[in-house]
Amino acid sequence: STARFTLDPAFTVGTAGPRLFGSFVEHLGRCVHTGIFEPGHPAADESGLRTDVLELIRELGVTVVRYPGGNYVSAHRWEDSVGPVGDRPRRLDPAWHSTETNRFGLSEFMAFLRKVGPHTEPMLALNLGTRGVAEAMALQEYANHPSGTALSDLRVAHGDKDPFGVRLWCLGNEMDGPWQTGHKTASEYARLAAETARAMRQVDPGVELVACGSANRAMPTFAAWEAAVLAETYDLVDHVSLHAYYWPENGDIGSFLASAVDMESFIDDLVATADHVGARLKSPKRISLSFDEWNVWYLPAWEEHARTRDPADWPEAPRLLEDNYTVLDAVVTGSLLIALLRHADRVAVACQAQLVNVIAPILTEPGGPAWRQTTFFPFAQAARHGRGQVLDVRVDSPVYRTEKYGDVDLLHATAVRGDDGTVTVLAVNRDRTGPLTLEVALRGLDVSAVAGHSALADADPGARNTLGAPDRVVPHDVHGATLAGGVLTAVLEPLSWNVIRLV
Ligand code: AHR
Repeated sequence: STARFTLDPAFTVGTAGPRLFGSFVEHLGRCVHTGIFEPGHPAADESGLRTDVLELIRELGVTVVRYPGGNYVSAHRWEDSVGPVGDRPRRLDPAWHSTETNRFGLSEFMAFLRKVGPHTEPMLALNLGTRGVAEAMALQEYANHPSGTALSDLRVAHGDKDPFGVRLWCLGNEMDGPWQTGHKTASEYARLAAETARAMRQVDPGVELVACGSANRAMPTFAAWEAAVLAETYDLVDHVSLHAYYWPENGDIGSFLASAVDMESFIDDLVATADHVGARLKSPKRISLSFDEWNVWYLPAWEEHARTRDPADWPEAPRLLEDNYTVLDAVVTGSLLIALLRHADRVAVACQAQLVNVIAPILTEPGGPAWRQTTFFPFAQAARHGRGQVLDVRVDSPVYRTEKYGDVDLLHATAVRGDDGTVTVLAVNRDRTGPLTLEVALRGLDVSAVAGHSALADADPGARNTLGAPDRVVPHDVHGATLAGGVLTAVLEPLSWNVIRLV
């Protein structure tokens, strides 16, 4: 079967900026401890950062990293995580039922980001669960004020002479979720978020603030929550957050493969909600979206663990949420990246949750190696080639029937035109049984050849990369794509993620 679309630079969606390729480091399981940070590991540098993991993170191409949670942040005391390591307290982490040593904290995180690369930006989440305006202001002063005040001088005394210059701040995390420490009603949260935003802007009008949207689209108060929160914060914040995780519910692979249908509708719903508030306020301002948690996550496994764990056990850096992803999961991940790019006009920030070990593209073994999961590849390729003008793609595709979403296109695609004029087509074939021929009519684009077609696909959709076989699944080059008479023709293998570059 054949799917088609037309590309024309006169019809664009918006600009895909670097912030679409963010990630997330939470003090959860082994994301930090024995993930990015493992003093004593053979590959650790002088500060305990694993250089093997750093190299993979650079290859992955993450641009923004959210920290330190997540659910974790809602009981977090930032003061615990700074200063001499020997003086830092051990604390209970109620969110993940673990013990946090605080051996890795804010200063170590900023040093980690500097080592990832000069352009990787921090996105700090504030605790608006157990804390409030005063503590947010204190952290802002500690992190961003140059010197000459108690908290900025404390940072200097702790060894960080230069301010961290954090621009992006999350006003809490998933505050609508009853599981959240310090969970709030919409009106309680709206007020607290507005007051915190006002105070932080008094100190620095240049901060960029993210208001908490719903924890997920299935929350009973979804949209009503956002409307209530934005009604109070519209002029004070820049972004509103979305979180979404997907897995094959009840083994329904067909719907799982169409997860991006939900993601795109979620984005559309939230844009409509935010714009409705703007209309009511007669405001020309537009709130953008921070999709600051998205991924494939086999959530039932975590829920089962939480139900059955020993309540007396508070382990340090336990193995939690260590999903080992398949080819199928990688194809869905690619499709979620396509969904984000297709909405680059309103999605300003996106963070795949998370970076290492915890539902992550990178896995590590304590004392042992680090390796790429299947999902590493779509992210790395999209982060590398998905920058520039996103072209409007309207596919004419054969469909398949899904339980959740009815008829869904077999082809999911986007295209990005780089500053150098090259065009990258990112495409998923959702058909598990057969190949899909792709025909793209190119108008007004200065490209004349196929520079490469890379695919991630496998005869075994359940194949994964493991400690014993870390390179079992890697992308491969596909030959045969042509660009002739202004038409790109390529064959997409069954159940595949594809990157086709035109120059
Ligand atoms: O990413 C894992 C968890 O998922 C985060 O801590 C929380 O914000 C979300 O529910």
